[in-house]
Amino acid sequence: MSILSIQTPRAFVPLLKAARYKGAWGGRGSGKSHFFAELMIEEAATTPNYRAVCLREVQKDLKESAKLLLEDKIAKLGVSEVFDCQRDQIKTTLGGLIIFRGMQDYNSESIKSLEGFKRAWIEEAQTLSQRSLELLRPTIRAAGSQIWASWNPRNASDPIDQFLRGQTPPPDSIVVKANYSDNPFLPRELEQERAHDAKTNPLRYAHIWLGEYEPAAIGAIWDRKTLHENRRDKAPEMARIVVAVDPAVSSEASADEHGIIVAGVGGDKRGYVLDDVSTRGTPHQWASRAIAAYDRYGADAIVVEVNQGGEMCKATLQSVRAHVPIIEVRATRGKHVRAEPISALYTLGRVSHVGTFPELENQMCLMTAGGYEGEGSPDRCDALVWAFTELFPDVTTPVHKPATDEVFHGEGGWMS
Ligand SMILES: Nc1ncnc2c1ncn2[C@@H]1O[C@H](COP(=O)(O)OP(=O)(O)O)[C@@H](O)[C@H]1O
Ligand SMILES: [Mg+2]
Repeated sequence: MSILSIQTPRAFVPLLKAARYKGAWGGRGSGKSHFFAELMIEEAATTPNYRAVCLREVQKDLKESAKLLLEDKIAKLGVSEVFDCQRDQIKTTLGGLIIFRGMQDYNSESIKSLEGFKRAWIEEAQTLSQRSLELLRPTIRAAGSQIWASWNPRNASDPIDQFLRGQTPPPDSIVVKANYSDNPFLPRELEQERAHDAKTNPLRYAHIWLGEYEPAAIGAIWDRKTLHENRRDKAPEMARIVVAVDPAVSSEASADEHGIIVAGVGGDKRGYVLDDVSTRGTPHQWASRAIAAYDRYGADAIVVEVNQGGEMCKATLQSVRAHVPIIEVRATRGKHVRAEPISALYTLGRVSHVGTFPELENQMCLMTAGGYEGEGSPDRCDALVWAFTELFPDVTTPVHKPATDEVFHGEGGWMS
């Protein structure tokens, strides 16, 4: 038997182990497609009766498929004698078969034709629909079968991202991140493209080349550019600081997060986001975290949304510390209605993030005038809105009744 010599970039080495799910995500030019193509050819060249399907969500033409890439790899790895490259499929002398399909061409009946397949490689998996993912998973069920996915993430809510990079990835999955900087074979042409994009398209650069999510949902009320342009690495002297909490209803592990944001108004009358200490866990855990942040930042009060837990929220905070200034707020309007005046402050350049808060900022950029477009509930963003609703009373209509004795307002309103 001939021995194939393949140089695998370090970023992909974890994927050489067997696993039910193998994922590689990242920006353009990282070598994702080449890696899976080489792995498939290596396996096909050495495994009797190998059966693999190369999938995309939509495949209008074979030219869109990985077929040409696989044929190049067959030639490059010097294993042509094992393969028979036909018009629309590739066969091996060991009884193997590789086919190329679009998931949209399958229905729940026709997908059964893939049941004996040992490998399914989903290319450009960011466009894979939930329906396709659900059709495919139970179909690729042969003993030792594997599902591979390569993609450039768009949104955390894309099915493949949720599935392989979400809170609860499936068992026996290996997922790696790779960018152009991990690709020792990066051609000069691509490097030039990248450098050009870095200069001329800064807004989309991080998505295209660094594998970060798309800048924002269409119609989002916040945008990355504004967040980025106003970002600071240090806060000025602060006039008032609050810790705002949007507690999740349930404390189960899979439940939503408790959004906990530390924000303030500076002596310069601008708003600053100082920290995001959101967490999952029990009420006692969020309360302890909020109070720890309150101490760490020398905050003036804890603002807490009480819709969900009524009196419980205050009691929870008081169980951790008996005397802590609490401002209870109640939502009487929808999330995005509350968020809009705050996003307007950002547009006016009156709010800075001190540091980067990727999860919070992702939520913000998925909040649209029509509602939240992300997965789950935008708890961090909600907590941020509560913080600035309290800190900038003049731009928002009051929506809360102060809880009499606990309320603590800084000396005078900062805007008076
Ligand atoms: N294993 C490899 N052997 C040779 N060239 C490679 C290899 N991996 C990547 N390259 C080069 O890097 C480029 C980008 O790789 P590719 O797999 O297309 O990246 P991605 O799928 O992440 O966008 C390819 O066009 C090719 O020129
Ligand atoms: Mg690719």
